[in-house]
Amino acid sequence: MKRVTATLVPIMRIDRQSKRPLHRQIYDAYRSTILRGELRPGQQVPASRLLATELKISRIPVLGAYAQLLAEGYLEARIGAGTFVSRSLPEQLTHCETSGRSPQKLRSGSRRVSRRGAGLPGLAADAWWQRPSAFSISYPALDHFPMRLWSDLVRRHARQQRVSSLLYGDPMGREDFRAAIADYLRSARAVRCDPEQIMIVSGSQQALQIIAHALLGAGDSVWMEEPGYRLARAVFALAGCRLIAVPVDEEGLIVSQGLKRARNARLAYVTPSHQYPLGATMSAARRIQLLEWAQTCDAWLVEDDYDSEYRYESPPIASLQGLDVDARVIYVGTFSKVLFPSLRVGYIVIPKDLMQQFLEVRVAMDIGPPDLAQSVLTEFITAGHFARHIRRMRLLYGERRSALAQNIRDIFAGELTVHGGDSGMHLAATLPVGVRDQAVAQRGAQRRLSLWPLSPSYLGKPTQQGLILGFGNVDVSEMPAAVERLKKTVYAG
Ligand SMILES: Cc1ncc(COP(=O)(O)O)c(C=O)c1O
Repeated sequence: MKRVTATLVPIMRIDRQSKRPLHRQIYDAYRSTILRGELRPGQQVPASRLLATELKISRIPVLGAYAQLLAEGYLEARIGAGTFVSRSLPEQLTHCETSGRSPQKLRSGSRRVSRRGAGLPGLAADAWWQRPSAFSISYPALDHFPMRLWSDLVRRHARQQRVSSLLYGDPMGREDFRAAIADYLRSARAVRCDPEQIMIVSGSQQALQIIAHALLGAGDSVWMEEPGYRLARAVFALAGCRLIAVPVDEEGLIVSQGLKRARNARLAYVTPSHQYPLGATMSAARRIQLLEWAQTCDAWLVEDDYDSEYRYESPPIASLQGLDVDARVIYVGTFSKVLFPSLRVGYIVIPKDLMQQFLEVRVAMDIGPPDLAQSVLTEFITAGHFARHIRRMRLLYGERRSALAQNIRDIFAGELTVHGGDSGMHLAATLPVGVRDQAVAQRGAQRRLSLWPLSPSYLGKPTQQGLILGFGNVDVSEMPAAVERLKKTVYAG
């Protein structure tokens, strides 16, 4: 096979009938592409022979144009490497617009965009996905992740790719991966499921989108925990649903309040194992009330089981889905917390009679999940690495959680009230009266603290000010200093 060059050929129209000579047309095209900033300083341009072949002309006019551009300093030649847009062109020059047309110029006046999208509460501006610093809630203990083992698995699975790996896969996800997840969920989470009910998705976030598209329509009421998970709220808001804030207490969602506010809601989104953000475990009585409501009022329940692998003082709590006898619960899980968030892999356990509906929506949304991460994860689970990692992390997080709670007690001497300590990877702490959580969070960023304010977790008016403190990525030895910095930050205002 002939060797094919990797340099991209810029879009360039050549008019053979024009009176302008070909070398001049090529010169003008390059010059204006460089001045418009479409070709950037340092970017390689195609070899003269390749450009001549692409333009179906002789090489002579191309060589003429290149010679002129080199002489004028628009291009530079590097021996043995090729020809490049000159790196010494001044910044202002490469962004000036010679043609007078500027497609990227900011326009004045209002531009019509989706009202639902514009109504979202500035989630993209928050810094939660940036580099982890102390108390960041988005990150597990990445320094304890078995990186070597993981890289070896990724390398091996990448090398084993076949042509069949390049085809569209099963829209539900790989069969072996779904079987491995079903085994795990049945034994570790008491979820009732067969592999065929499991759909692999790109994190809980996509799971919620698929659920909203499959089960809800614009105007449908949805119960949301108050305070609750903002990114879940955003999905149902984008679907045009009416969000009903249902308060939580130490037993989880207060079902009687939901009944009072919107008995006929179509769906309730809950985090029963570890309420986000306050940390309660939903009591058995509330679980039964919730299931009864769903059955009586023909509603759906979404169980987001995002970090249930980690319980420290009591044995694991079985899932809500495992108690359900009427196939009302749609169970959502993720690898973001238990492994790492950039994987973007999660799963939905779908009631059998809804599988076709979910499949249609999935195919319409993104056809199916990518293959490589699934095959790596399948081996990671079936070879026992997953269970081993969870056991190691449970010990580590247990120590980190105790260290955080103890240091808060010692350093704050009762001025911070801690909620929800027995599970997961974060604690919530309410602030002393008069201290505003958003201001504390802003000050924290200057002290290398990633503090997540509690008040934006409320859909309505916040009833308390507090901080959601992740302990997953703070080493026990660093905890006292981090909590000291936290105290200074709280009282700096
Ligand atoms: C309540 C809740 N659900 C789910 C997730 C994970 O989301 P994803 O799987 O989209 O990364 C998080 C992450 O912080 C969370 O707090």
